[in-house]
Amino acid sequence: MSGNTSQLQVGGKTVDMAIKEGSVGPAVIDIAKLYAQTGMFTYDPGFTSTASCESQITYIDGDKGVLLYRGFPIEQLAEHGDFLETCYLLLEGELPTAAQKADFDYRITRHTMVHEQMARFFQGFRRDAHPMAVMVGSIGAMSAFYHDSTDISDPHQRMIASMRMIAKVPTLAAMAFKYTVGQPFVYPLNSLDYTSNFLRMCFAVPAEEYKVNPVLSRALDRIFILHADHEQNASTSTVRLAGSSGANPFACIAAGTACLWGPAHGGANEAALKMLEEIGSVDNIPKYIAKAKDKNDPFRLMGFGHRVYKNYDPRAKIMQKTTHEVLNELGIKDDPLLDVAVELERIALSDEYFIEKKLYPNIDFYSGITLKAMGFPTSMFTVLFAVARTVGWIAQWKEMIEDPSQKIGRPRQLYTGSPQRDYTPIGRR
Ligand code: CMC
Repeated sequence: MSGNTSQLQVGGKTVDMAIKEGSVGPAVIDIAKLYAQTGMFTYDPGFTSTASCESQITYIDGDKGVLLYRGFPIEQLAEHGDFLETCYLLLEGELPTAAQKADFDYRITRHTMVHEQMARFFQGFRRDAHPMAVMVGSIGAMSAFYHDSTDISDPHQRMIASMRMIAKVPTLAAMAFKYTVGQPFVYPLNSLDYTSNFLRMCFAVPAEEYKVNPVLSRALDRIFILHADHEQNASTSTVRLAGSSGANPFACIAAGTACLWGPAHGGANEAALKMLEEIGSVDNIPKYIAKAKDKNDPFRLMGFGHRVYKNYDPRAKIMQKTTHEVLNELGIKDDPLLDVAVELERIALSDEYFIEKKLYPNIDFYSGITLKAMGFPTSMFTVLFAVARTVGWIAQWKEMIEDPSQKIGRPRQLYTGSPQRDYTPIGRR
């Protein structure tokens, strides 16, 4: 490597490749011309060493356990801000002034209702459908209801689609919940703030007055802030890849939602709570630690480990504090699951296997306990993640669409299949 150029020797040739510096964090080697110059691709399954884009939205230092949205530490945003302020920040790049915040809140609030025909669309789902299946379907279906905001070349339509999704995804999420429990849908109430309105849409029933608990509303709002964006994770990369073909924004966010559903990604909070329930008591922990360490056993400690964080996930620390606040507020003094979680964390953090592999609790380790205490069933956990991540997906999608150098994402491959061969008629095979 020399100056801001690196050199690669391949096939008897020396190829110069520019090194690009970011504002903070690792520099990258620009390999865009590598194939033209050498006839070779790079190979990086799982993208462990590949930067897929340039971005100004979120920065993570996984070794130090740092997470910044537009430069602001997640701890400060979670402590002092609210979720809609974070949404504005992610979308616009700066914290809003009081007037900008009031205007943004107003505009989001005025988009919370969904087309009435959406309610009939929901009737097509089986009652026992997983709410994430309903989310993937209903977010995708928004493109059929809101055609007037699907032209991605029009900045105004992009803005309206963004507003609509931030405002309506919580309404769809609450409807998905109500549908699976067989209760009537609750319309949004615009006098409430974003998260209080969401809690009401989930937990109010027409037969009773519903009073929002401000401690729970604040806790869920903070959970939304923690999940709002996480740079180029699998679902965000999915949104960018889907968007790179020019697909409409609702379809792109539906694609991201589908990707989020997997247990290695957003489904981990559901999996972590199920694991804690399966472990059941502190006495069983050593058995499960041994299973996690056994190479021949596929079991992993859910809520542990992260592709990027090789230190304590900063979101997990805030989440742990929020868990205690919620349990205190609800008067849950002895939650056996919390006992298992605290002890499991203590043992794992002092175990050589976990230390050596730098496996720390991630955000999902404590979020399940908190959401369960609030009254959400496990099947809703990933849905809540999707509600929060919608803004991150949109901010990243918008950044990509507005980047003049953007082109369709098209990875290459190392082909290991059969070389060319001739077709054999069926009777001769
Ligand atoms: N329990 C036991 N061993 C583990 C765990 C775990 N949770 N996570 C990683 N390892 C081991 C793994 O077996 C491997 O060992 P070896 O080097 O001997 O083969 C080593 O640690 C590295 O693991 P990896 O799978 O190569 O690492 P990765 O970066 O590909 O995977 C991960 C990251 C998050 C998928 C993985 O740690 C995992 O499956 N964790 C449990 C699921 C989870 O909690 N996911 C939520 C992620 S945070 C929320 C989000 O961003 O969506």
